[in-house]
Amino acid sequence: MGVDQNQTGEKLPDSHVFYRRLAHLHPLAERGEGIYLWDKDGRRYIDGSGGAAVVNAGHGVAEIAQAMFEQAASVAYAHGTMFSTEAIEDYSARLAALTPVETPRFYYLSSGSEAVETALKFSRQVNLARGKAARDVIISRWGSYHGTTLGALAVTGKPKMRTPFAPLMRDHPHIPPPYCYRCPFGATYPSCDLACAQALETEILNQGKDRVMAFIAESVGGATLGAVVPPEDYWPRIAQICERYDLLLIVDEVMAGFGRTGRWFGIQHFGVEPDIITMGKGITSGYFPLSITAVRDSDVQTILDAHGDFAHGGTFSHHAVGASAAQATLDYLEQHDLVTAAANLGTYLGQKLKAELGELPFVGDIRGLGMLWGVEFVADRKTKDPISPEAQFSRRVGDLAFERGVIFYPGSGSVDGVRGDHLLIAPPFIITESEIDVMVGLLREVVFEVWQEIK
Ligand SMILES: Cc1ncc(COP(=O)(O)O)c(C=O)c1O
Repeated sequence: MGVDQNQTGEKLPDSHVFYRRLAHLHPLAERGEGIYLWDKDGRRYIDGSGGAAVVNAGHGVAEIAQAMFEQAASVAYAHGTMFSTEAIEDYSARLAALTPVETPRFYYLSSGSEAVETALKFSRQVNLARGKAARDVIISRWGSYHGTTLGALAVTGKPKMRTPFAPLMRDHPHIPPPYCYRCPFGATYPSCDLACAQALETEILNQGKDRVMAFIAESVGGATLGAVVPPEDYWPRIAQICERYDLLLIVDEVMAGFGRTGRWFGIQHFGVEPDIITMGKGITSGYFPLSITAVRDSDVQTILDAHGDFAHGGTFSHHAVGASAAQATLDYLEQHDLVTAAANLGTYLGQKLKAELGELPFVGDIRGLGMLWGVEFVADRKTKDPISPEAQFSRRVGDLAFERGVIFYPGSGSVDGVRGDHLLIAPPFIITESEIDVMVGLLREVVFEVWQEIK
C-alpha cells in the first residue's frame, strides 16, 4: 500500500505522546539560545537546520517572547470574523512593503499547509468569480512539497507522502522539476531550452487550456529534492506561460521566504511577480505557528463583487499573538540586518560545504542559495547511481550528527520517490563563520563514518 513495512519489531516508547518518529526516543528540548538547543540532560546541539528551516532569527530571542507576552496579556484572541487588531493591521502594512505581489492583502492561518489550501481555494473562487467555472485543474511539480493536508498533498510531488492517501485525493497533474543535476529530460542547461518550464505549456494544452486555473511551485526547491535552485530564466519562462493561458501563478515561499535565500523572498532572485505567495515557517522564526497567503487586492475585490465573501476561514485565523511575534521577528531581522547576513554567510556556507565535502566519492551535488543548502549523496559520482534505500544513508547521517551535537535535516526519495539521499543545511542567520566551520567539519566526519559502515 505504499507504506514501508516495519520489519524491525520495534516497540513504541513508554509515553502517551503520539510521536513524529514512532519508535524513536526523542530527547526533551529544554532551552534554546542563538544557534544552540540544550536537552534536559544538558547536551548541547548546534541547530544546523533551524529545525525544518524555521528558526531564522535564532533561539531564545527575548524581544520576540516579550512582544508575544504583551499581546497575549492585552488581548490574545479575538475571532477573525468579528475583530481585527492593531497587531494584524500594523504587521500587514509593513509586510506589504516587502512582498512582491501587486497591492497585496494577507490572509493569516497557522501552518504552511493551510496557507497552500488557502491559495488553492482562493484560485478556484477567483476563477468562479471571473465566470470560469470549468477551470478546476492545478498544475504542480514532481519533487515538491506543499503540505500535509489533503489539498496541499494533492499538489505535492513527493510519492512517499502521497501514495498511502492517493485514493483520498484529486489527481492533479505534475510536471518535472528544474533539477539540473538529474535533468528529467536527460538534457543539459542551457541547450535544453528549459524543457522543464516548457512542460507547463504542454501540460496546459494536454488538460485543455480552459480547464487549468493555477500553477504552484516552490521558488527555490525545499525538503523534497534538497535546495534545488532553478536556472535563472526558468521562472520568467513559467510566468510568461501562466500569463499566456491566464493561469494564477502561486509561488510557495513557506521554506524559502523571510530571508532564507538571502532575499526576503526566493522569487526575488528571478524578477518575477506572482499572483499569490504562500508563507510560513520563518515568519515568526518558530515562536508562534503562523502562516500567510498573500493575494492581489484586485482579486479579493473580484470575489467581493461576485460572491460577497471568500468561502474559507479558521478558528485561529488572523491571530494577534501570531502577528506580534511576526512583527518582533521582522524588527529583529531588520535591526540586525540578518537577510544580508543570510546572503553573505550563506555564500561562505556554500563554499565551505564544497571545500569540505565536494570531493568525497559519495557526494554527488552541493547546491543552494543564501542559508538554504542541500548535499546529495550517491553510490557512484560518475553514474550518479543513488545509494540503496535500505542503507537509509541520509537518516543515519542525521541521527549520528544529532548524537554528536549537530542537527541537520535529512531527506530521501529525490531520485524516483524512493531512491536518493540528501541533507538540508539551513542554520539560523546569526551563525558565525567559525560556527559554520565547526558544523561542516562535523558533517564531514559523520558522513565519512556512515559511508564506511554501509559500503
Ligand atoms: C515549501 C513548503 N510548503 C508548505 C509546507 C507545509 O508547511 P507546514 O508544515 O507548516 O504545514 C512546507 C513544510 O515543510 C514547505 O516546505
